[in-house]
Amino acid sequence: PLRIAVLASGRGSNLQAIVDAIDAGTLDAEVTGVWSDRGDAQALARARGAGIPARAMRPRDFADRPSHDSAMFDAIDADDPDLIVCAGYMRLIGAHVLASRAGRLINIHPSLLPAFKGLHTHQRALEAGVAEHGGSVHFVTAELDGGPVIAQARVPVLADDDAARLAARVLAREHPLLLETLRWIAAGRVRWQADGVHVDGRMATAPLQL
Ligand code: GAR
Repeated sequence: PLRIAVLASGRGSNLQAIVDAIDAGTLDAEVTGVWSDRGDAQALARARGAGIPARAMRPRDFADRPSHDSAMFDAIDADDPDLIVCAGYMRLIGAHVLASRAGRLINIHPSLLPAFKGLHTHQRALEAGVAEHGGSVHFVTAELDGGPVIAQARVPVLADDDAARLAARVLAREHPLLLETLRWIAAGRVRWQADGVHVDGRMATAPLQL
């Protein structure tokens, strides 16, 4: 099974989708641990409820940002995960910890990247008047939400949407998007090479549409 470490800052519904899929036998993986920058993250409680080691490392307990990043990623790697998944992890990750982990770190982001990097993506999508919105899974680089996109899921924006309704429609597609991307990675079908994302041994010209 693919050994996955999960980073989460909040609710943890994407983590729960992973745990449920593993339990149901539809994802050949094992969660080695769940890590958070917040002690009160619901994701930690969900992990403990599932018997998964869960640990908070609060930035304020460290001298500076690089030492927090280093401590957390060294602790994560002690479990020897194949893949580190940011599932609602709301902190920037420093370039110094990313370099040695390139291609082993992915993030799920609530927009059709490269549109709407950063925060408040649903409100911004509404204000921009786009007809389509969605979620993306990408390899993490030092550029915020800027790494190579592996896969996307699309939803329509409806006339009477507000940010909460749109967010809920996207989230419902995020869970299967993340799970399906993990299945592709677990099967060894997706890799990050120097020139971009490779799927089944060939350079991908566009993200997988899942
Ligand atoms: C998800 O919508 C995820 O895409 C987003 O936070 C939410 C976490 O939900 N991530 C980001 O905005 C990253 N910048 P969850 O905690 O229920 O999985």
